[in-house]
Amino acid sequence: MTDRSVADDGHFLFVVGTRPEFIKIRSVLLEIIRRKHRYRLIHSGQHYDYNMSAIFFKELGLPEPDAFLEVGSDGPGGQTGEGLRKTEAVIAEHRPAAVVVQGDTNTTLFGALAAIKCGVPVAHIEAGVRSFDFTMPEEINRRMVDAVATFCFAPTARALGNLTHEGRAEASRLAGDTLVETAGRIRDMALKSSSILAQMNLQPCSYALVTSHRKENVDSPQRASAIAESLLQLDMPVVYPIHPRTRKMFSQFGLLEKLQKRIRIVDPLGYFDFLSLLTQARIALTDSGGVQQEASIFHVPCLTLRNNTEWLETVEAGQNVLVGADTGRIVSEATRILSDAAVYDRMAKAPSPFQEGAAVRIVDALLAALGGGRLTVPSSDFLKDGMPPLWN
Ligand code: UD1
Ligand code: UDP
Repeated sequence: MTDRSVADDGHFLFVVGTRPEFIKIRSVLLEIIRRKHRYRLIHSGQHYDYNMSAIFFKELGLPEPDAFLEVGSDGPGGQTGEGLRKTEAVIAEHRPAAVVVQGDTNTTLFGALAAIKCGVPVAHIEAGVRSFDFTMPEEINRRMVDAVATFCFAPTARALGNLTHEGRAEASRLAGDTLVETAGRIRDMALKSSSILAQMNLQPCSYALVTSHRKENVDSPQRASAIAESLLQLDMPVVYPIHPRTRKMFSQFGLLEKLQKRIRIVDPLGYFDFLSLLTQARIALTDSGGVQQEASIFHVPCLTLRNNTEWLETVEAGQNVLVGADTGRIVSEATRILSDAAVYDRMAKAPSPFQEGAAVRIVDALLAALGGGRLTVPSSDFLKDGMPPLWN
C-alpha cells in the first residue's frame, strides 16, 4: 500500500457514498492501487446500513476508507450542503491532484462541487449518461457534474455523443464501463459463495427478480400501488430485495403487507447474493440504473419500471423494455416475453453494449495528465486571447 499521509503529493481523492458507487468505482480504485499511485478514499456516509455499505467493502475487497463524513440521510439540500462543507474541509487539508467521483448521486454532486470550488480538478466516471428527465434528482446531479468536470469519462458512445452535443468534447473521452468490470470479475465468486437460491428454495431460471427505489416510483402512492399490483399478477415466484427507502414508503402506503402475502420481500442483499439471484433469474423488473446494466451484461431480459432510461443503449440493443409504472403494460409485456420462446431468446441473446477497459483507460489518462502537468482547472485569458465567440 502506498503512503497516503502526505499532503500535496499528487494523490487522487475518491469520494463515494452509495451502494452503486462502491460497486462501480472498484475497478478504477484497484487499478490505482496496482500502479502504486497515491490516493485517498472518502466515504460520505450517504448510505450507512451494513447491507447498503460495509458488506460491499468486504465482498468487493475495497480498501478501508481514510475518512467517513457521516453525512447520513436528509433532504437534498441538507444532504448536499452537509456533504459539500465536509468534503471541502478534507480537500483543503489534503490538497489532492484531482477529485474522482462516479455516477449521479448527491455524493457525486457535492464531491465535484467541493473540488471545483477549491480549484481542484474533477474527474467524472460515467459521464454523459442522460435520461433527459429533469424531474429526476440524478439527471440534475450528472448534468451539473459534467458541466464542471475537467475529465468526463464516458461509458458508451452514446454518452460521449451527449457530452459532445453539450460542448464538452474537449474534456471528454470514451473510456468504457466500470460496472461490466466489477460484475464480470465478481460473478464467479458470487456463484461459488452464495447459497441464496437454495436458502430461498428457488430453481434457476424460474423466478422474477425485482428492485425499485426511484423517488418518482416509490414516493408516489399511485405509481407504487400500480407497480405492486403488477407484481401480484405475475405468474411466477417473485423475489424483491427491498431498498430502505422503498420499505419505508411501502409500509406508509400499506403496500408491504399486501405484497408479502405473495412476493418474497427480503432486506437489501450483498453483492454476492444479489448477483447470484440476478444471473439466474428468468426476468428482471427494475427501476435501478445499475440493475438495468447488469441485466444487459448477464443477458437477463429486463423490464424497466420507468418511462425513460439513461441506459437507452440497452433498449436499442433489444434487451430492455420501458414499461413505466402501468400495471397493464407491465403484466402484458412480462407475459409477452415469458410466453413466447422466440421473443425471450431474442432478448436473452442480444449483445450487451457495455465494454471493458475503462479502469485502465481512466487511470492512464489521469496519470498522463498528472505527469504532463495538465491536471489543472481550465482558465481563460480574454486579454490575451480576445473575447470568446458569441454563442448562437
Ligand atoms: C440514492 C441516490 C440514487 C441512487 C441510490 C442507490 C441521490 C439523490 N439518490 O438514492 O441516485 O440510485 O442512492 O441506492 O443521491 N436509508 C436507510 N439506510 C441507508 C441509506 C438510506 O435507511 O443506509 C433510507 C433513509 O430513510 C433515507 C432513504 O433511504 O432517507 C433515501 O436514501 P438517500 O441516500 O437519500 O437516497 P436513495 O433513495 O438511497
Ligand atoms: N444491488 C445489490 N443488492 C441489492 C440490490 C442491488 O447488491 O439488494 C446492486 C446491483 O447489483 C447494482 C447496484 O446495487 O450493481 C445498483 O444499485 P441501486 O439500484 O441502489 O442504484 P442505481 O444503480 O439505480 O443508482
